[in-house]
Amino acid sequence: MSSGSIVAAAIRVRGLEKSYGKVDVLRGVDFEVARGSIFALLGSNGAGKTTAVRILSTLLKSDAGTASINGFDIAVGAADVRESISLTGQFAAVDEILTGRENLILVAKLRHLKAPGMIADGLLARFALTEAGSRRASTYSGGMRRRLDIAMSLIGDPSIIFLDEPTTGLDPEARIEVWQTVKELAQRGTTVLLTTQYLDEAEELADRIAILHKGRIIVNGTLSELKQLLPPSKVEYVEKQPSLEDIFLALVGEGSNNDTGGDDRATDSGKK
Ligand SMILES: Nc1ncnc2c1ncn2[C@@H]1O[C@H](COP(=O)(O)OP(=O)(O)OP(=O)(O)O)[C@@H](O)[C@H]1O
Ligand SMILES: [Mg+2]
Repeated sequence: MSSGSIVAAAIRVRGLEKSYGKVDVLRGVDFEVARGSIFALLGSNGAGKTTAVRILSTLLKSDAGTASINGFDIAVGAADVRESISLTGQFAAVDEILTGRENLILVAKLRHLKAPGMIADGLLARFALTEAGSRRASTYSGGMRRRLDIAMSLIGDPSIIFLDEPTTGLDPEARIEVWQTVKELAQRGTTVLLTTQYLDEAEELADRIAILHKGRIIVNGTLSELKQLLPPSKVEYVEKQPSLEDIFLALVGEGSNNDTGGDDRATDSGKK
């Protein structure tokens, strides 16, 4: 009876598990992402963010658990999943020898789209790269390259986009440019799942934020829901609300043995 559950979420993940040898990276990850929203998966280096994104984009198989993307099961509907998504990986996929415009045309041709030149010009304009479009990508700044990378991933109008650490290594100005791009995507109705280690990035962009820690999602909520996890702010000279950084550090806390993440017995197998 429950098998026909209505597909409201763009992304639905249940009990996802993945180990590399003896290292349990994902130990039962659950979350959902509403259509047209921005969802941030936050976690330290090695938390398993890229692993999760690779599983959801069908590049990697999970050991256990299920996930559906745009209503398609990643295990049995991989081709449909791929049609629904685009992935901008952690490391820019831009071809340095080609110009920005040629990079875009290449992707449009690979996707068998009509009028690749027009598609390229439209995206160059949208991402403020028209002037740079005829230059080799090797001459681009990090921010321009990231914008081109995101533009390339939008060819074919995917309804769901995965951005793995979209602003790592960018200067503050370039980060803000990328943030603007991501906000515009969501305004157009694209569902965005982004991973980040930057708390301010999640705070700035995300409708919902989930923290991945020791293989599980230890909190998942809106920024204001997360803020309520800490005691109310103290009044000193000015009222100070806990920042997302405070929340993150309190939950993840260095060397903390807190049991927010659940079962401590499971750590035996993961001992370093
Ligand atoms: N192919 C692999 N073989 C063995 N171990 C791996 C492999 N890929 C990832 N790992 C390990 O899995 C863990 C999670 O890696 P992952 O790349 O998913 O983390 P991440 O959260 O994306 O980190 P970062 O913020 O550094 O990008 C790490 O301990 C990593 O060393
Ligand atoms: Mg990563």
